[in-house]
Amino acid sequence: TRPLKLILGTVSALALAQGAAASELRERAQDMFAPLPSTIPALNDNILTEEKVDLGKALFFDPRMSASGVFSCNSCHNLATGGDDNMETSIGHAWQKGPRNSPTVLNAVFNDAQFWDGRAADLAEQAKGPVQAGVEMANTPDNVVATLNSMPQYVEWFEASFPDVAAPVSFDNFAKAIEAYEATLITPAPFDAWLNGDDGALSDTQVAGLELFIDKGCSACHNGVNLGGNGYYPFGLIEKPGADVLPPDDRGRFAVTETADDSYVFRAAPLRNIDQTAPYFHSGKVWDLKVAVQIMGTSQLGTEINDAEADQIVAFLGALTGKMPEVVYPVLPAETLKTPRPTG
Ligand code: HEM
Ligand code: HEM
Repeated sequence: TRPLKLILGTVSALALAQGAAASELRERAQDMFAPLPSTIPALNDNILTEEKVDLGKALFFDPRMSASGVFSCNSCHNLATGGDDNMETSIGHAWQKGPRNSPTVLNAVFNDAQFWDGRAADLAEQAKGPVQAGVEMANTPDNVVATLNSMPQYVEWFEASFPDVAAPVSFDNFAKAIEAYEATLITPAPFDAWLNGDDGALSDTQVAGLELFIDKGCSACHNGVNLGGNGYYPFGLIEKPGADVLPPDDRGRFAVTETADDSYVFRAAPLRNIDQTAPYFHSGKVWDLKVAVQIMGTSQLGTEINDAEADQIVAFLGALTGKMPEVVYPVLPAETLKTPRPTG
């Protein structure tokens, strides 16, 4: 029986060593990343209630918030397809092609600032943008409020969501309700389970990919709860990608700060659900996640990431794909004769 004992001894020593390595990696990872919280995060000056979340959901799906009556938030942030539109750049009002790729709204509440260039501080400020953008919904705040006031059911929902307010139906409250709904769109992933101590949540390949993601330096920019969404860096820090990937006319944060140093500076993109949201980069020019990873290697780190390494990193990124929120399609209030007619 002695040899058997020996073998068993060797096996358990190996398991112990593996366990120690796993917990060492977990400690390193916990310093850089954070799991999704188990509850919906609190918002700035916006108390979450069931009524408000339900109202925000109705508004998110309501195409009558656009001038044409064609586009809702869900047109470009489709919750059936990872919270984005799977196009290079979005199509909006009057079939216009917008300048940038649509990022996912899933987990967006955890980004420090919104948009590729971070020009909106939070989701409530953000929500006012697309409604008015000529290439997106092409509407005006007054017309949105008139549309909402024309439907008694909406007025009741606003009253229930913003009690004790003199004029509950307002553009500000429209944005706050949408923010409240978006705050519920969070997607716990295997990586969260792993960070919380479940060794079995990641495959060996995914663990190897995580180690590469840290050791190569990706986590210097892609960290925190969303593995990004919390810092700004030049796209092309070490080597500028070609004009096909980084079109020269979009200079990113330069348009926000008008500081020369901010030329071609963008927010480090959040990476949760990244394998659901091709195509990649603000230009939407790259369809293959593996290629996007290799571009990051050369452009941001000055490192060639070989095929085998890129496969492992992509496997790790797959562990960031979470459980999608279950969405019951809302029934919206019917328009009345007072509802502004679609234009354009
Ligand atoms: C960006 C929500 C309507 C296209 C965003 C972001 C959020 C959001 C939260 C920022 C995500 C991030 O930075 O990670 C909404 C809401 C909408 C709406 C609540 C309805 C009120 C639309 C529509 C379109 C669209 C209709 C397409 C026609 C885009 C694009 C960006 C964006 C292209 C990136 C723009 C940039 O960075 O400059 N949206 N969206 N959105 N959305 Fe929307
Ligand atoms: C974008 C992964 C290193 C800053 C992206 C995207 C991916 C990615 C997949 C596209 C996201 C999307 O389209 O939604 C990686 C990996 C890295 C790495 C695997 C390591 C090999 C870095 C580093 C920095 C950085 C070191 C900062 C110096 C950015 C920025 C963007 C981005 C600014 C947005 C680019 C744009 O405007 O389109 N990253 N990244 N990344 N990453 Fe990285």
